[in-house]
Amino acid sequence: MHKDCERIMLTEEQLRARVKEVAEQVNGLYKDKRPLVVGILKGSIIFYSDFIRHLTVPVELDFMAVSSYGTGAVSSGKLKIKKDLDKDVKGRDVIIVEDIIDSGFTLANLKALLYERGAASVMIVTLLNKEGRREYDIEPDYNCFDIENEFVVGYGLDYNEMYRSLPYIGILKREIYE
Ligand code: IMP
Ligand code: MG
Repeated sequence: MHKDCERIMLTEEQLRARVKEVAEQVNGLYKDKRPLVVGILKGSIIFYSDFIRHLTVPVELDFMAVSSYGTGAVSSGKLKIKKDLDKDVKGRDVIIVEDIIDSGFTLANLKALLYERGAASVMIVTLLNKEGRREYDIEPDYNCFDIENEFVVGYGLDYNEMYRSLPYIGILKREIYE
């Protein structure tokens, strides 16, 4: 897997330090609350597990799997839910944990959906943000790293379900996906 990466964009050390820093900022916002931390499967799992271990407020964990078909010119306006939450979000403070925001389709729709279901608040925490690719009006509340428009893998992120277990974020060689 290592040889398929052109170079390492974010090292294990950079990831560890920044994830801790962001989690510490989030802690301050939820004093006396019990947020529901929603991980978006599967890309967020490694970020999610590192992030929650720095949270000092009591949290409940839940997960969702969604697919972002409909991205691009044809806006279906509907998110396809492959696995829904176990918990009811009504009245809850929700923290969505995502691997990367690209066009913004997934999170724009997901945030609207959770508010429709009665969530008291919905905050978005993402590991990576490709600001330059945005097509939908959505911004993360917390973002660990802004990145250029490169296809990256590792630390949970995949290409065709491969590379998720790499401990760093690497730029995938173009010849792999072109
Ligand atoms: P969006 O709905 O266009 O914002 O897409 C977000 C989803 O696209 C992420 O959750 C990822 O699954 C996927 N994605 C976007 N860019 C990358 C990348 O560079 N590497 C791996 N997955 C990506
Ligand atoms: Mg994803």
